[in-house]
Amino acid sequence: MKFSFSKFVWFDGKFIPLEKAKVPVTTHSVQYGTSIFEGIRGYWNSKNLYIFRLDDHIKRFRNSGKFYSISLNFTDSQVKQGIVGLCKKNKLKSSCYIRPFYFVGNYGINLHVTEKAPTHMAIYSFPFGDLFNKNGIKACVSSWRKFSDSTTPPLAKMGGNYLNSILATQECKRNGYDEAILLDQNANVSEAPGENIFIVRDNELITPPLHSSALEGLTRDTVIKIAQDIDFKTSTRDISRGELYLADEIFLSGTAAEITPIVFVDHKKVGSGKVGRITKRIMSEYTNIVMNKNQKYSHWLTAVY
Ligand SMILES: Cc1ncc(COP(=O)(O)O)c(C=O)c1O
Repeated sequence: MKFSFSKFVWFDGKFIPLEKAKVPVTTHSVQYGTSIFEGIRGYWNSKNLYIFRLDDHIKRFRNSGKFYSISLNFTDSQVKQGIVGLCKKNKLKSSCYIRPFYFVGNYGINLHVTEKAPTHMAIYSFPFGDLFNKNGIKACVSSWRKFSDSTTPPLAKMGGNYLNSILATQECKRNGYDEAILLDQNANVSEAPGENIFIVRDNELITPPLHSSALEGLTRDTVIKIAQDIDFKTSTRDISRGELYLADEIFLSGTAAEITPIVFVDHKKVGSGKVGRITKRIMSEYTNIVMNKNQKYSHWLTAVY
């Protein structure tokens, strides 16, 4: 996957050219993964660029650091201004991805990270289309299990957590699949390496609970609200591996993946092997929301221009 990063980044409060944003090799987060990030999308609807659920992303951004006493030295309003300002500075007038992150800087080899550890924050952006084929992808259950609250908290969106995602992704690609599905420590379905998961069974939309080590995804929450709006029964409960094979439909939800149908799981067709009716409806409602065509949710959109 090739990304064409936008020219400017925001680094500790200033807009600077991408190539000037440098950190020392002794940076703590490079050694230990002590970084926190968010993935945010901006949608261009030919009139304006709308950043989706920006306040909710900023809330999770700050909360993730609290698990590890890693300080975010900028206020919510500074982070928001940085993100909106960066889109303007880069003159972004197409749909894009925005990546804010903060990380422990020069802190030697010290594992006793406290609020006093020095941190830095940066934001970069790039034009972005579909992450996956929206006509459906092939997924397989990974032999790697998702880590749990008994090891490192899955609710914290930490750089280091993604080593688990990388192992699962490497394995699935090696085996010819597009994406992995991880089981939790109790062998129930957890989520994908960078997305939450939903199944449709007998006219019910089901997603694993947070105790299955799923990230509290904002797209997951959006899907649940869409399903309620269209009077589709939803539940949050444990999903066994076997239910993946009995599901009528399966899809992933995430900022980058948006709503991505899974049409094959472990070489078995999901339902008819085509994108299902409910998945299609959720995809279309989701697009309406992010493109500001559903006034009920316009409060989720931050206009850049
Ligand atoms: C592990 C993981 N699960 C789920 C998600 C989906 O979360 P969201 O919908 O907030 O992007 C992401 C992406 O942020 C993720 O990295």
